[in-house]
Order: sequence, then C-alpha cells, then structure tokens
Amino acid sequence: MKVLSGTSNVKLSKEIAKRLKLKLVNSNIIRFADGEVYVEINENIRGNSIFVVQSSSQPANDHLMELLVCIDALRRSSAKNITAVIPYFGYARQDRKVVPRTAITAKLVSNLITNAGASRVVTLDLHAGQIQGFFDIPVDNLFSTPIFARDIKKNINTKNLVCVSPDVGGVERARALGRRVNASIAIVDKRRPAPGKSEVMNIVGNVKGKICVIVDDIIDSGGTIVNAVKALKDKGAADVYAYITHAVLSGNAVDKINKSQVKKLLVTDSIDNSKKLKKSSKIQVVSISSMMAEAIKRISNSTSVSSLFK
Ligand code: R5P
Repeated sequence: MKVLSGTSNVKLSKEIAKRLKLKLVNSNIIRFADGEVYVEINENIRGNSIFVVQSSSQPANDHLMELLVCIDALRRSSAKNITAVIPYFGYARQDRKVVPRTAITAKLVSNLITNAGASRVVTLDLHAGQIQGFFDIPVDNLFSTPIFARDIKKNINTKNLVCVSPDVGGVERARALGRRVNASIAIVDKRRPAPGKSEVMNIVGNVKGKICVIVDDIIDSGGTIVNAVKALKDKGAADVYAYITHAVLSGNAVDKINKSQVKKLLVTDSIDNSKKLKKSSKIQVVSISSMMAEAIKRISNSTSVSSLFK
C-alpha cells in the first residue's frame, strides 16, 4: 500500500500517511506555462495498491484535473489498483436537473474518475448519498457524525439540545447526529431563489430556549448558515452552534461568520483552509486524518469500513 498526494491538501495527506506509518509517494506535480497539469511518479509502484488523496476544492477544475492526471499516471505505471481518496468531492451539488437543460455534474465527474482508471473511491459526507450509485466501482462514503458528536458531548451542554438541518435535504444528517447526542431535531425550510442565494421561509420544530446545533455538509458563501442562525435566534434559540464537514468558505464567508450570531463553527480539514481561518476566532477545525487513515487501513486489509460508524 502506498499513498500519493495531490496538491489540494498536502497537510492532510501527510497526516494520513504518518498515521499509516508510510511516506508519501515521491512525485512531481507541476503546471506547464499554459496551466496544463504534469504528473511524474518518481518511484517504482508496479503491483502496489495506491491511495491518491485529493479534494476537488477551490480551484475546483484544476484540482479535479490533477486527480484525473494522477490516476492516469498511476495506471500507466502499473499500479495494481488505484483508490481515489476524495475528502471533499466537488461538483456534487449538481446531482439532478433542478431546472431543464442543465448538467448533472456529479455523474459527469464520477464517469471521469472511473474512466481515468480508479478502482474504488473513498469520500466523506457526500452531498447526497445516492451519488454512490453514479459510480460502477465501490464507493466508501465516510461520515463525520461520530467526530462531531464527540466534540458536542465534550464542549456543549447536551441537556437542552436540538440538532437542526438547514434545509430539507439534510434531515437525515441531523437525525443521525441527534441520535448520537440524544437530541431532538428541527428543520429550516430554506428556498434558493437563485444559485448561491438562500432564504429562510420557516422553522419546523421547537427551538425556543434551546441550544441549537446546525449540521450540514457544506458551507460555501455562508448564506445558508447565517440566515439559519438568524431565523433560529428570532424564534428564541438560546445559543446556536454549527458543525459543517466541508469548509468551502468562498468570497467573504469568513467575515459573514465572524459578524453572525453563531457561537462557534466547527469544520473538518477535508479542505485546507489554514490561511483563511487565521482571520476567525469563531471557526475551529477538527481533523479527519485518523478516520481516513483507519478506513484506508481497513480497505487494504479487506476488513469492515462500516463498523467504524457503529
Ligand atoms: C446545500 O444543499 C448544501 O447542503 C449547503 O447548505 C450549501 O451548499 C451551503 O451553501 P452556502 O454556504 O453558499 O449557503
């Protein structure tokens, strides 16, 4: 077993490799002057099982292309099998045609990864579980719920807690977290008048005087969370926390969070945000490296990955 890192999140790849007591595969990943990706594997990997770690985070197109070129280089170097470890799977939000004449990019990207030569995918909190079915190769979709539940139990008074989904699509996620921390759930009725804009219509459930924990897969512009926090506060919530797996944090999202009434935002390191997060004392990061490393170990030993979440 060997681990190759793309350039999107070298910090996380190094952590994963360290936990597996491995060194990252020696490689050159560079750009030609026009931006084309060049990948060279500098060691023999013939017959090895290779795990290539790359999030398709911002710049999404560059990082996705880099993943595809890495997989192609590994295939042509006679790797025995190639697992694409994609902590943040970008392009997943376009998983169906919401309006006519649009693309389904989640399917397009799954085809690209498979056709490049991946034999398996490991990812985390896919935007929609059914994206697993867009692949005809095995997909292990890991969950950050156990990591979030551990942090909540350690740092928040769980007696008066409600887990909140910021939209109807995330109810399953809120329910799973609620089960682990013994809390009821509430739902924010969110509408999107246009891509990147969100409006709160209503809150389903009782949040008055409660400590609310919003759980979501992605924070991008921050609009969803800021609006949900305001709506919960308006309905009488005592405190509002947010636990979100993928910190896309584009534009002025960090500023918006700083200015909002959210008490704390906890995100994972599926995306490397080291620079951006220096500007916020409200945002904390919890690492997924040990869970990712354990999943890789179990895949390599052909033991159960799902039992990690029982
Ligand atoms: C949407 O369905 C996702 O689960 C997130 O709620 C959304 O991507 C967050 O986006 P933003 O932070 O731009 O509102």
